Amino acid sequence: MYNSKITGLGFYVPDTVVTNDDLAKLMDTNDAWIQERTGIKERHWIPEGSEDTSAIMGVKAAKIAIERSGLSKDDIDFIVFATLSPDYYFPGCGVMVQNLLELPTVGAIDIRNQCSGFIYALSTADQFIKTGMYKNILVIGAEYHSNGLDKTTRGRGVSVIFGDGAGACILSRSEDTTKGILSSHLHSEGKYADKLIVKSPSIAHWVPEIIASNGEDISYFPYMDGTFVFKNAVVRFSEVILEGLHANKLEASDIDMFIPHQANLRISQFVQKKFGLTDSQVYNNIMKYGNTTAASIIIALTEAWEKGKIKDNDLVVLAAFGSGFTWGSIIIRW
Ligand code: UT7
Repeated sequence: MYNSKITGLGFYVPDTVVTNDDLAKLMDTNDAWIQERTGIKERHWIPEGSEDTSAIMGVKAAKIAIERSGLSKDDIDFIVFATLSPDYYFPGCGVMVQNLLELPTVGAIDIRNQCSGFIYALSTADQFIKTGMYKNILVIGAEYHSNGLDKTTRGRGVSVIFGDGAGACILSRSEDTTKGILSSHLHSEGKYADKLIVKSPSIAHWVPEIIASNGEDISYFPYMDGTFVFKNAVVRFSEVILEGLHANKLEASDIDMFIPHQANLRISQFVQKKFGLTDSQVYNNIMKYGNTTAASIIIALTEAWEKGKIKDNDLVVLAAFGSGFTWGSIIIRW
């Protein structure tokens, strides 16, 4: 068995910043409500007419990660792309990246695990590296939410939360067994699928049904039972972090850096308190970017690393919870 190590990190967000006050011009909301309930001050949204999509943003993040890894793009032997907002119903964004980066005809898969997408993607890549099948895998999390949100008062409980962006890393084979990804733990509970969902268009609920409803059917917008999701999130986050720590015979006090999925600052703060972590042991950036779903952890990890907050040998814990429900944790010795 080999070990796997992150050797390059990058992220990209569109230039356009949308503040809470900007949203208040579109719907009945206000800066105080959004900040108090979510911690979000602003997010980046792809402006009209931009070329950006999930795949294109993913490529922009990937180029930075590849350069920082010191590898050539031809060294990449597999692509894992996590998103809930793919450019097309099919094919997936992974193959778009293979084409846009002009990579050799390497394999590419898309991961559809929403807010836990990056955890699932990195864990998938980790298994391919550990078994020796691949040496350098490009792992991307990217979301283009803004084009799919209900930006009226009707959708305010969901649309104020989400932002656009992408992050990428290179996961490489390493001979050093003391460092790299120590473990990943993944879970799902599909009975709560309808608590956070975009129902349409889907094979079960195709476009003609939506058109026939004359505007009544809005199941192509995300629906969320926010309070229910919140309550489950705080429990599952804690459980899966503990599961990871126990599997490695570690304690919460061993954590040097905790990077939670940026769903809601209040969720992160709850988990931080539960594990007795100081502000310097947790990295949050939801204030600037909103919830970028599959991109959030990799954007936060990259930013924390860029700021020098992650050092050699640090114990880094990643964890996420979201639609599915799906949740998971990854423990890394940096
Ligand atoms: O990343 C994937 C996983 N997602 C999450 O983890 C999200 C988890 N949930 C949450 O973060 C929170 O539930 C929300 C931030 C989405 C909502 O916060 P909440 O404290 O659960 O608010 P609520 O939905 O219970 O709504 C409270 C009130 C309602 O008004 P009434 O019925 O009390 O009069 C809403 O209509 O706030 C109203 N409201 C708003 N007001 C101003 C809902 N959205 C807004 C808004 N601006 N944007």
